[in-house]
Amino acid sequence: MARTVVVSLDLGRTKSEIHIGDGGAVFPDGQLVGWEDLEDINQHEVGCFTVDSGRIWKVQLYSEMMSRIYSLMPTSGPPTMLLSGIPMHRIKDTDPRRDTLAKIKTLKPVTGQVLDTSTGLGYTAIEAAKSAEKVITVEIDPAVLEICGINPWSHRLFEDKRIESRIGDVFEEITHFEDAAFSRIMHDPPTISLAGRLYSAEFYEQLVRVLAPGGRLFHYVGDLTSRSGRRTSRGVVQRLKDAGFRRVIPRKEAFGVVAYR
Ligand SMILES: C[S@@+](CC[C@H](N)C(=O)[O-])C[C@H]1O[C@@H](n2cnc3c(N)ncnc32)[C@H](O)[C@@H]1O
Repeated sequence: MARTVVVSLDLGRTKSEIHIGDGGAVFPDGQLVGWEDLEDINQHEVGCFTVDSGRIWKVQLYSEMMSRIYSLMPTSGPPTMLLSGIPMHRIKDTDPRRDTLAKIKTLKPVTGQVLDTSTGLGYTAIEAAKSAEKVITVEIDPAVLEICGINPWSHRLFEDKRIESRIGDVFEEITHFEDAAFSRIMHDPPTISLAGRLYSAEFYEQLVRVLAPGGRLFHYVGDLTSRSGRRTSRGVVQRLKDAGFRRVIPRKEAFGVVAYR
């Protein structure tokens, strides 16, 4: 016998009614997803799926540029993205939304022009744009933005007029910005082993140059209480100070440091 159930079809943003019958689940737009496909989805605890013309697709892409696989992973909050199996946001004892809010809180009030050095799923850029005049966000890999196009939690990246999304290597892109162009910088790069140049003295000198006097930078580093986090942060703090930041303060709860210009 057919029955109606309420589920979320957009990873927790809204609720919809679907009809369950002998053939499977009928979505609000009339698409039928059969039992075999529903079973397949059910088996993938760390996968997200889209449905197109009644066929299911795992949200997963191979990046030619980085030679790695990206996939969307559900959490108790917004999804995160796995880069060859490694989550892009903190998910242990937290979720990507709380992770994002903790990072943004270190820069409050987030006003004026903001540079978000690494777009990812766009969560920090979207959150910053709620109070900033403008956010420029840079992503090196077009495949990441393709995933953003599928993730309902990233859509404001393309819809919010205050966000300018650029594709490029921020190591190069940053050299084109004027001195003191930004009042806040969100620097949330991949780990140092994957993106060493974004932790280099040369890049930090550019960060100081484009940050306005009185401005602030948040730099994600990782768990400051872990051995590797402590080691990485020691080098980061030293290089930020050498580059010209007047004060660098650890922010354990946000897994990073804040640097003042
Ligand atoms: C940790 S994620 C950023 C998460 C993001 N803040 C969010 O809220 O979803 C780091 C991102 O930086 C990108 N990236 C790596 N190297 C880069 C570079 N040189 N320039 C710009 N983006 C880069 C990666 O592709 C990845 O999407």
